Amino acid sequence: MNTQDKKAEKPFALFSGPDAALSSGRTGIGLRAPHAAQIIAGKPEAGFLEAHSENYFCIGGVPFEQLMACREDYPVSLHGVGLSLGAAEGVDDAHLQKLKALADIVQPVLMSEHVSWSRAAGVAVPDLLPLPMTQEALAAICRNIEHVQETLGRAILVENPSSYMEFEGMEMNEPEMIARIIERTGCGLLLDVNNIYVSAHNLGFDAKAYLDAIPQGIVGEIHLAGYHVNEVAGDDVFIDAHNNPVYDPVWDLYEAALARFGDIPTLIEWDSDLPVLSRLLEEAQKADEYRAALRKDKGTKNARVA
Ligand SMILES: [Fe+2]
Repeated sequence: MNTQDKKAEKPFALFSGPDAALSSGRTGIGLRAPHAAQIIAGKPEAGFLEAHSENYFCIGGVPFEQLMACREDYPVSLHGVGLSLGAAEGVDDAHLQKLKALADIVQPVLMSEHVSWSRAAGVAVPDLLPLPMTQEALAAICRNIEHVQETLGRAILVENPSSYMEFEGMEMNEPEMIARIIERTGCGLLLDVNNIYVSAHNLGFDAKAYLDAIPQGIVGEIHLAGYHVNEVAGDDVFIDAHNNPVYDPVWDLYEAALARFGDIPTLIEWDSDLPVLSRLLEEAQKADEYRAALRKDKGTKNARVA
């Protein structure tokens, strides 16, 4: 069944492009507890705020009230890290119901999760583990995404993972897997450019070729972050630690992503070794400059055509 047929049968809108509420051209930042009061008081310029859903499952209390206060001034995105979309046994419905309860209150502009798994035999692990790129894993994650979207009554975005190892017996590569997930479920892609760079280094593939293999028209958001370098047996392993500024090769890849996919709403993720808010906003402004340059370049080209 193609996406068009799916649109006809679903009682909610499937992904059809980036949300208009995020089209200001201003880049978003992650909402992290040490910055929340300063954001509420100072209302710094940021395109949107992205909150980790699981941090707000307890409805009430200071963090939740801060999220609701932020919601008054910014579009909010809910980014989940614990749904385990790739779980063969299906998603945990208690977790999903908590997510739905939160979404019903917050009414986020968009919701996202990961192409990964983190739960098996009822045991959850605090990590985003890679999926084998097989038909069996594809069927499982599509089944779960459809269940999640039907429960939430909306399309979600799914994020490409960062990888440190590869399974034997892969039946497709990651861009193919992602394209099939989106075709089958009608969700969109949260393209994490840093994750592509990290995986490309660790697994030895061409990051630009990965970008070129992602179909156009499916990207609803871009993530940028800084990785950590671990030396393991004399080799550098890149870890998706969100603990540094965005590195130059990732900015280069971001520029290529904007050229391919257009001016996509972008978010800076910085979770560990958190800087002061002004430094995080500087990083977002740097992304704004890349996006403005793309729009200017496109405007010049259009003027030439006219
Ligand atoms: Fe990300």
